[in-house]
Amino acid sequence: MTVPKRPASAVQWARVFIHPALGNGSTAVDATAGNGQDTVFLAEGVGPDGRVYSLDIQEEALTRTLRLVSGKGMSERVKTILAGHQHLASLVMAPVDAVMFNLGYLPGGGREVVTAPDTTVSGIMAALSIINPGGRISIVVYTGHKGALEESQAVAGLLSGLDEKEFSVQKMVFWNSHKESPELYFITRAGDKI
Ligand SMILES: C[S@@+](CC[C@H](N)C(=O)[O-])C[C@H]1O[C@@H](n2cnc3c(N)ncnc32)[C@H](O)[C@@H]1O
Repeated sequence: MTVPKRPASAVQWARVFIHPALGNGSTAVDATAGNGQDTVFLAEGVGPDGRVYSLDIQEEALTRTLRLVSGKGMSERVKTILAGHQHLASLVMAPVDAVMFNLGYLPGGGREVVTAPDTTVSGIMAALSIINPGGRISIVVYTGHKGALEESQAVAGLLSGLDEKEFSVQKMVFWNSHKESPELYFITRAGDKI
């Protein structure tokens, strides 16, 4: 699996965090498929016996994701779903071992379709409800585009209220970077996989 040896970006750090939750036969969710790069990372991690559910509200994103996954010969282990992550819990076979959120807009696509505070909060709550004990959730939050501040505040508010006995939450920021750099949350559910 391609785990960055020297992670630099938020996306790379998210992969370093998620990696230990994956193994052959695992189940994972890419809650924002986009161009499919996280889906490919997860598909490698769950191995030939595993399953990745890859969601996006844009058909273009799922087309790009499928193209990338097929090119790597892994389409059998990936199911793309044209739906918002706020509906996650009813669309995947729970429980799951890992969920990745990479918020914002589709790189190389229009900026008018972008993740939104309400649906992001619902999507994270859905992910928290289906994650296995010991399972991991990563959330990359961008802060530079219109509406980003509201989304960042909504995510922070939700996560600060989680019961620390059940979920461990860490936040990473790029401290000496410019003020619009991304934020990254690492969430681990307590316990061991049953
Ligand atoms: C930054 S991109 C994701 C990048 C992707 N993970 C990758 O590896 O290329 C964000 C994506 O979230 C999608 N999106 C927006 N609202 C969504 C929602 N409610 N549920 C699922 N996806 C959503 C956008 O269409 C966009 O493709």
